[in-house]
Amino acid sequence: MQKTEVKKILESNIDWNTIKQAGYLLRTGGLVAFPTETVYGLGADALQPEASKKIYAAKGRPSDNPLIVHICKFEHLSKIVTCIPKAARLLADAFWPGPLTMILKKSDEVPIETTGGMDTVAVRMPSNKIALALIREGGGYIAAPSANTSGRPSPTMAEHVYEDLKNKIPLILDGGAVGIGIESTIIDLTEDIPVVLRPGYISLEMLASVIGDVRMDPGILSEDSDTKPKAPGMKYRHYAPKAEMIVVDGTQEKVVQKINMLSEEKFNEGKKVGIIGTEETVGCYKYGLIISIGKKKEEEIIAHNLYRILRELDESDVDIIFSESFSTPRMGQAIMNRLLKAAGHQVIVAE
Ligand code: TXA
Ligand code: MG
Repeated sequence: MQKTEVKKILESNIDWNTIKQAGYLLRTGGLVAFPTETVYGLGADALQPEASKKIYAAKGRPSDNPLIVHICKFEHLSKIVTCIPKAARLLADAFWPGPLTMILKKSDEVPIETTGGMDTVAVRMPSNKIALALIREGGGYIAAPSANTSGRPSPTMAEHVYEDLKNKIPLILDGGAVGIGIESTIIDLTEDIPVVLRPGYISLEMLASVIGDVRMDPGILSEDSDTKPKAPGMKYRHYAPKAEMIVVDGTQEKVVQKINMLSEEKFNEGKKVGIIGTEETVGCYKYGLIISIGKKKEEEIIAHNLYRILRELDESDVDIIFSESFSTPRMGQAIMNRLLKAAGHQVIVAE
């Protein structure tokens, strides 16, 4: 067992000694957790098979679930892919550095240990300055999945990483709470028509405005197990809190009524209930641990708070969670995708 060191680091005033220490760890095949603008990542040198394998071991991640390779310069892309389609250039111009991951054909430089045996590679250039500095010092190609134990909500604070990975990795860079709070949008550019494999902060409309035709992987929002998502990681029951979770959909008034009825029932059975509501509704709930995720219309705040709240509910050992649904205009699909997965697609429509 190794002791995990947690080092605070400021994005606005980066301590280069810390980055050098972390970069050295990465170059010598070690693991470092670090903040990005989406969620915390667990980094290793993507070009060293043995380093990538350590990521799978620390997270308990199935070895067929490929990793995202993080770069800090567009020019570095050509080394790890066989060709750069025009769409990739346009999307990089529009959204890199930022919360967009592109799937491209991989070159021989990328070991299959990093891509879970696939002949494609996922690539992202994050915008967080700590992440960019670390990628550069770490050799330029850093494989990094979200820094949680497989199956738990992605970490949005260094404390979450520590909870999951303490004594399994040598170093966590603590850059405070992340900005966005849900993982990057993933777009597959290896098909004739680009396909979104995971919705995120960059919406389908934003992508379409740059490259035209783009479609959503039908496996994403479907609960039908025959429609398999194309990103291997999207098939797992991810982001799961320990408690059973049910999403209640409908008009605000009906949802409040329904959750009050269901939570009273569970309360009377002696169950510990958790409720995820909004600023507009939390005052109307009566039973259990009631948490506000933010204002109904402020989707960026909802996204930012979601994983933290799922972890808090886990810690408070609730038996069942009722959540409102959040079909906001732009990020709604990304938020609902995470929420429905956390709930194992259990939805009740309040009528
Ligand atoms: O925002 C993010 O993307 C964060 C931060 C740390 O950058 N990373 C992240 O990585 O969310 P991870 O490993 O938790 O999720 C990566 C997803 C998985 O669902 C995986 O199956 C999919 O990307 N993926 C990776 N490479 C792929 C490939 N070649 N083809 C299809 N899906 C791929
Ligand atoms: Mg993940």
